[in-house]
Amino acid sequence: MTSRIIDLLRTGQPAQTVTIRGWVRTKREQKEFCFVEVNDGSSLVGLQAILSADLPDYAEQLKKLSTGASVEISGSLVESPAKGQRIELKASQLTIHGEANPETYPLQKKRHSFEFLREIAHLRARTNTIGAVFRVRNACANAVHDFFQARGFLWVHTPIISANDCEGAGELFTVTALDLKNIPKTSDQEIDYSQDFFGRRAFLTVSGQLEAEILAMAFSNVYTFGPTFRAENSNTSRHLAEFWMIEPEMAFCNLDGNMDLAEAFLKHIFKSVLESCPEDMEFFNQRIDNTVLATAENIISSEFPRITYTEAIALLEKADRQFEYPVAWGLDLQSEHERYLAEELFQKPLIVTDYPSAIKAFYMRQNDGEPDDRKTVRAMDILAPKIGEIVGGSQREERLDQLEKRIQQAGLPLEELWWYLDLRRYGTVPHAGFGLGFERVVQFMTGMTNIRDVIPFPRSPLNAEF
Ligand code: 4AD
Ligand code: MG
Repeated sequence: MTSRIIDLLRTGQPAQTVTIRGWVRTKREQKEFCFVEVNDGSSLVGLQAILSADLPDYAEQLKKLSTGASVEISGSLVESPAKGQRIELKASQLTIHGEANPETYPLQKKRHSFEFLREIAHLRARTNTIGAVFRVRNACANAVHDFFQARGFLWVHTPIISANDCEGAGELFTVTALDLKNIPKTSDQEIDYSQDFFGRRAFLTVSGQLEAEILAMAFSNVYTFGPTFRAENSNTSRHLAEFWMIEPEMAFCNLDGNMDLAEAFLKHIFKSVLESCPEDMEFFNQRIDNTVLATAENIISSEFPRITYTEAIALLEKADRQFEYPVAWGLDLQSEHERYLAEELFQKPLIVTDYPSAIKAFYMRQNDGEPDDRKTVRAMDILAPKIGEIVGGSQREERLDQLEKRIQQAGLPLEELWWYLDLRRYGTVPHAGFGLGFERVVQFMTGMTNIRDVIPFPRSPLNAEF
């Protein structure tokens, strides 16, 4: 039976006979024997194997054995005299499955830039940093399900192909089966989507929220966890065209309950990853960003301050600095403003609530009794140091008449949202939810500076290789 290297490193005992499989990371030749470090992806450090000259075809095999080659090695574990490792594997049998020509294999033992590694995304998971990122990403995903399942939330699967633009933001990828060389046109020269696959125009979803609201009106508490797509042309270190989002939706819940859940959720993810990936997290702290562990501890132990948008604007107006973008009540917060608040002023994640209704989506619940020029909605964004917005959510408008008004103000067609409005006609309740950008949380956790390095195959403008 083959063992996972992580299990051997943790609990392997001298004299135990084992077989490992993996890829060679490094090879060090001595006179009579050779050390190879083998990594199978289960942990940051690999297991060191000692190959001695009495192995069959030793010299021949050794030539084929270079960084990147795939091997299977059997032998017995022995105590290691070397520093930093408890055990090593004394090989009695070696099989080389596939060689990796050192003349052409792009991953050599030196440090490669993340930009270069993105160009070889089919190989980069075999590096220390990217390997650690994807183990942490897996642990985060596991923590997401743990958190909600323990609280009785149903994981619901909302469609990826959708006919509605949830946010009304217009950053949609169209999905079509029309013949692009021969596009059918209507009498007024518009594209005739009635002849398309769905008989109407369809998109890749930007959010599962509206469908999650439907399901929350039956199951009370639900969450989505799936890919979302945005055709925004923002070439930043925090935007992807395809990213994963977690969207819980709770019936019988207001904005306070929503914020409490979001805060507990982030704390749980951090705590759980620190417990399940201690070596990887230590590695990020040493090699990527030396505030990673302190940040994680800080998130777990401190309360997130909660301020209103109006208070945030006042704080930004008092800031002892010049921002690139203007600060004024009614304007949206830009990333530089969000980061000033989270990184410098509060030095931890904070929650900003009650944004002007004019800059937020139609489904957010309108606050009552405000003058027309200062109307706000029950929105909440969580802003994190280095990342800016990591969570966006709100209490939803559950009142039919108010919702219809907001949809019309936003210039969206009421008739297309007939099913969404039905939720307010039949058994409406106060409800709330939020969206957490999965890659943003992995980025925040690991300290990686570019979001393209925390998803295996990033999609961004002009970039869809692999
Ligand atoms: O604030 P957003 O647009 O909110 C929604 O989509 C709501 N429907 C959520 C809800 O209430 N159910 O997006 C939510 C989060 C953002 O806070 C951010 O973390 C992430 O999704 N996000 C992105 N992550 C990577 N690349 C992008 N282009 C992103 N756009 C948003
Ligand atoms: Mg948002």
